[in-house]
Formats: sequence, structure tokens, C-alpha cells
Amino acid sequence: MSAAVVEKKTIREGAFGNATALACRECGAQVALGPFYACPECFGPLEVAYDFPAVTREQIEAGPRNIWRYKALLPVPEDIEQSPNTEPGFTRLLEARNLARELGLTRLWVKDDSTNPTNSFKDRVVACALSAARELGSKVFACPSTGNLANAVAAAGARAGMKTVVFIPSNLEKPKQVNSAIFTENLVAVEGNYDDVNKLASEIAGEEDGWAFVNVNVRPFYAEGSKTLGYEIAEQLGWRLPDQVVIPVASGSQLTKVDKAFQELIKTGLVEEKPYRIFGAQATGCNPVSTAFKAGVDAIRPVKPDTIAKSLAIGNPADGIYVLDTCRRTGGAVEEVSDEEIREGIVLLARTEGIFTETAGGTTTAVLKKLVATGQLDPEAETVIINTGHGLKTLDAVSDAVSPAATIAPSYDAFVATGLGEA
Ligand SMILES: Cc1ncc(COP(=O)(O)O)c(C=O)c1O
Ligand SMILES: [Zn+2]
Repeated sequence: MSAAVVEKKTIREGAFGNATALACRECGAQVALGPFYACPECFGPLEVAYDFPAVTREQIEAGPRNIWRYKALLPVPEDIEQSPNTEPGFTRLLEARNLARELGLTRLWVKDDSTNPTNSFKDRVVACALSAARELGSKVFACPSTGNLANAVAAAGARAGMKTVVFIPSNLEKPKQVNSAIFTENLVAVEGNYDDVNKLASEIAGEEDGWAFVNVNVRPFYAEGSKTLGYEIAEQLGWRLPDQVVIPVASGSQLTKVDKAFQELIKTGLVEEKPYRIFGAQATGCNPVSTAFKAGVDAIRPVKPDTIAKSLAIGNPADGIYVLDTCRRTGGAVEEVSDEEIREGIVLLARTEGIFTETAGGTTTAVLKKLVATGQLDPEAETVIINTGHGLKTLDAVSDAVSPAATIAPSYDAFVATGLGEA
């Protein structure tokens, strides 16, 4: 038993909704629902398995305008809305006509998850992890993080009245540090990169009792939260799947769960079955999955990250091999872009669609552009990109790239001299 559970806590009936077991992604072995994340047979990662009841579009549409409208498809109890949480999700899906025109695409949408309560998609996964931690009787809500996850854990823990401890690499962007420290007194900056922080968290999870590390020992429950991105995209398109989706990759969890969501929507009859392609986006300064994809190999060789896309800077991604599987199976690809292209991607999305994304979204936008330019993405097919975080958290990335067009005296003549008066 992992340390997430407090001794002798009995798990109440229905604690995990319609989930039936944790199943190994490698060998298929099943274990009971609980604070487990590795297969007892082969050490493969566990994921949540379900026996879904009949779920209708009408039932979902009658639900709240947050991720709990999909609670029948998540490992959460029927009464989940009664427990304090940040109520993330149901973010806008914007048709991006200007960006589409600029890149030569017929139809493009941006799923804008920067408007979640702590301004990234991580609020979704944390809400599911919080439910699991509560049901397991955990006393401490914690995570190793590249930044956004720490923000989400610290805020959700504050709302839930739980002790939180969040661990980050010490070189993280200042706004991401402040966005955690404002919610918790227990922000720990670790001298090392994310992979070092993750290793430390695993060690603490093994030693301390009652700690729920959202992305370590309750990871199977946490990961399910990303499925809601897939559900929302389909619902907001009018209950149908897009042809192509571009998703940023750090650990790779989000990308694989959007695919799982699409599969579940087909299985439950909520959408019609159709082919779709999933594309992954990485930075060249942290490209282990893209490298393996291009080399046509199955093994991921860890890298030491060096990129401005710090939220994506996981050199040894836990779900990397499953990202390869997903992108290859669906006919997608994993592509990478330089830091300069990431900066340009941030500015491009801002100037065409009025959306200020962080470096992860700059990566996704720049990868979209590259996929079109290299013919890997079909410009005629309906495409969705996911903007996973807000640009105000990574201001430094673009603060040299954008500045006032002119600094002038407060006079009309000075204004005319700038040439900005012409329509
Ligand atoms: C803004 C943002 N986008 C994307 C990701 C990638 O998520 P995953 O680890 O599920 O691949 C992260 C992870 O930290 C993130 O912060
Ligand atoms: Zn196994």
C-alpha cells in the first residue's frame, strides 16, 4: 500500500463513481481501487477502468458548467459537487479564423484552458486528484511540478482546507513561484531540474504517511482529469470529434487522456465513430518524445532540458511511450520547435486571436505552423489546438520581443510624427 492512505481508513461505497478497478497499461492485470500507481505484476503504470452506465448528451448538458458535468465518466463520487474544489473546466472553444487564414488552414479552433481558476489545464487534473485524496483520507496534498501544477494544487488545497506542500525547480519563472506561494506557506524550491524534484517527491511519498502526491501516488486518478478536455472539445463542436488535435507534451499524460476521452465517447455512443489524428508538441530544448518519434523507435532516451518552455521541461516523461503509441496509431506525429519559434508562436496567437498563451501554448502554436508547412497536418481537415496555460505566467519569454512602438511627448505633433495616425 502506498503512503497516500491514512492507516485503516475504509473507502466508502461509490468513492470512485463508476470506476471498477485500476488496470495495468502493460499487462492488463487489475488491482482494487486505492492509492496504487504501479502494477504488482510488472511495475507498469496503472490506469482507471470503468463500467459506464448509459450516459446521454442531455444528462451531461443539464450538468454544471464545469468538469463535473462529466462526473459519470470520472473516478469521482456522485456527490462530488458538494465538496469544495476550484470547479475548473468548460473553458471556451474559440474558432480561430485569423490564425487559420494566416497558416492556410480551412477550419481551426483553440481550446483555451488559460481561463481555468489558476490559468492552466492543471486545475482539471488536480480536481480529480483532490477527490481521490479526500476519499483515501490523505492528510497532505502535494506535488512535484514544473510550475502550473504547483499553482493548481496550492489553490485547490486552500479551498479544500487541506495542508499543501508543493515542490518546484528553483529556477522557475517568478510569476509561477508567486502563484503558488500566494496559496500556500509550503512552497519548496529544489536546487535541480524537474526530474530531480520528481525523484525527491517519490522518495517522500514512500517514506511519509498520509501524503497524496497528485502526480505520483494518486496519478491514475489525477490523469483522468485531462479526459475532460477531450469531452469538452467534442461537446462544444456539437457532439462530434475533430479530425486533428495538437497537444503539448511534458509527461505526456494529457495527450494520452484526450485520446482515451475520444475512445470513451465513441464506446458510450455519445459521438459517432470516426478517424482522428493526434499530434504532440515539444520544445527542441526538451524533445525526448519527438526524437524517438522521428527515429521510429519505441524507447525514450531521457534528456537534460534547456528551453524557455519550462512547463514542458520534463526530460524523462512518464507517459512518453504512450504518446508515441497514440500518435502513431492515430496517424499523427510528434514535432518540435526552437525557443525562437516558441516566442514567435506566442506573439502569433496573441496578434491573430487575442489570446495570450504561455510558452507551452507558444510551442503548440509553432508546432501547428510547422506541421502545416511540412505537410504533416491536413490543412483542409478540422483542427483543434489546446492552449494549456496563460502568458502572464511567462512574461519574461516575450518581454524583449514586444515593447512600445514609440515613446513620445504628450503632444499631437509628436503623435503624428510616429506615423501611427494613418488608418
Ligand atoms: C501549461 C502546460 N501545458 C502542458 C503541460 C503538459 O502536461 P503533461 O505532463 O500532461 O504532458 C504542462 C505540464 O506541466 C503545462 O504546465
Ligand atoms: Zn502489469
